Amino acid sequence: MPSNANLENALGPEFHGSKPSNQSAETDWSAYATAYDLLSLHNPEYRALLQEFESFLSTIETPQVIYDIGGGTGSYTEIAAGAFPGSEIHLVEPDATMLRTARAKLSRYSKVHFHAAALQEFKAPGKADLIVCVHALYTMPNQRERLDDLRRMVRPGGHLFLIDLGRYMDVSDWRRYLFAELKREHGLIGALKVFWQGRQVAKQNKAILKSQQSGAYWTFTGPELAAAVTDAGFEILKQQPVYRGYSDLLVCRA
Ligand SMILES: C[S@@+](CC[C@H](N)C(=O)[O-])C[C@H]1O[C@@H](n2cnc3c(N)ncnc32)[C@H](O)[C@@H]1O
Repeated sequence: MPSNANLENALGPEFHGSKPSNQSAETDWSAYATAYDLLSLHNPEYRALLQEFESFLSTIETPQVIYDIGGGTGSYTEIAAGAFPGSEIHLVEPDATMLRTARAKLSRYSKVHFHAAALQEFKAPGKADLIVCVHALYTMPNQRERLDDLRRMVRPGGHLFLIDLGRYMDVSDWRRYLFAELKREHGLIGALKVFWQGRQVAKQNKAILKSQQSGAYWTFTGPELAAAVTDAGFEILKQQPVYRGYSDLLVCRA
């Protein structure tokens, strides 16, 4: 869980999130991509998010057009493509290594299209019935404008499935949690092996924290994210803290 100080930040009314900043971000997404899929293999909290997404998909009508914004290595697109084989899915991702990994992983899905673009430069080919944006918005410049972009890209009545990291990424806290989980499942040597394989994950999560602290990445409380999403013109159907309290999940309707 986030440390007490961070939890106070997460919940306290005096916390107003990070200010817009000219600082540049420190994360190397290409380096992260080389180990990213260890998360779906070994982080139960990441897997729980994928399950939340799968459950959500079972509650909606078949979407004709889906955008996965900041889709990374394609974990969410893969679930959507499995649930809705007839849907046209656009995975939008600016990092070349993330995108290459996604292409390789999803090559069997002929209706998945890949776009090497950041959200702010993406020319959407049409309105979406569903937009998925997981742990990507906080990394983008001018997040409130990006929420406006998402609103413009979805048809009235369409859905936004949003998960975003709002609290400081406490790397030691995650290390303790994951090590205990891995040790229980794979024993001490197995846990050490996974930690060695995943050293790039720890390194890039530290970079995420630095970018949050410098203000290059957005930090927010649940109510602050809800206000930003509502301001962009979405109706919130469901909101809950996820990812051990570090993130918020919102299901929204345009
Ligand atoms: C933490 S990863 C999340 C990947 C994926 N959504 C997942 O949850 O598995 C964040 C992703 O956002 C992408 N990203 C960064 N800036 C972006 C932007 N301006 N527009 C779209 N995606 C962006 C990064 O390249 C990275 O792949």
